Amino acid sequence: MNKILNAIFGLSSESGEAAHADIVEMLKADHRRVIDLFAKYEKLPATATREKRKVLREIFAELEIHTKLEEELVYPEVEGAEEHVTEAQEEHHVIDLIIAEIKKVRSMNEKTDAKVKVLKEMIEHHVKEEEWEMLPRLPQDELEEIGAKVKVRKEELLGKEFPEKHMERAGVQPVEELYGGSETGEGISDKDATEQKPVAKESAPKSKSKRARKKHSAA
Ligand SMILES: [Fe+2]
Repeated sequence: MNKILNAIFGLSSESGEAAHADIVEMLKADHRRVIDLFAKYEKLPATATREKRKVLREIFAELEIHTKLEEELVYPEVEGAEEHVTEAQEEHHVIDLIIAEIKKVRSMNEKTDAKVKVLKEMIEHHVKEEEWEMLPRLPQDELEEIGAKVKVRKEELLGKEFPEKHMERAGVQPVEELYGGSETGEGISDKDATEQKPVAKESAPKSKSKRARKKHSAA
C-alpha cells in the first residue's frame, strides 16, 4: 500500500525523491523537473500544438503546487533575507500573471511560444535566486522537519486541489483524457473557465521570517 501511495505522490526513491529527503533536495528536484519540462516544450515542432498544450498544463500544475508550498511553509523559515523573500513573492505574482495570459490563449502560435519563453526566463532567474540566496538561509537543523511538513501539504494539494495530477502520477488515466485538451481549441487551462479561481491573485501577505518575528516579539 505504501508503495502505491509513494508512487501516487512521487515520494519514493524511484521517482527521485528519497523518503527522508530534506526540503532543499525536494525544492531543487521540483526546479529541475520544471526546467526539464520547458526544455521539452522548446524541442517540440511548431505544429505539435496538442503536445505543447499537454506540456504547458504539466508546467502550470507543477508551478502552482510548488509556489504554494514555498509561500506557506518555506519562505517563513528563511532567516535574514527578507528582501529576497519579498522579491520572490512578487516574482510568484508575476509568474501567476504570465500563466494566466497563456491559459487564455485560444490558438497556439509564435506569440504563445514567446510568452512561454518569457515565463521560462523568469523561472530560471527565480530558481537561481532561491537556490543561491534563500535555500542556504533555511535553518540547517530543521531541513528534514520542514521537508516532512511540505510533503504532507503536497499530498493534500495533490489530493484535493489537483486530483487530476494525483491520478496522472499514479498512471490511472492519460492526461489528455483528464484535461480534455484539443489540437485546435481551448484547453491549456487545467479547469473549466467557470471553475477557474481568479488568476491575477494578489501576492501572499509578506511573511516575516519565523526568527525575525520571534526577535520582534521579544523586543
Ligand atoms: Fe522554488
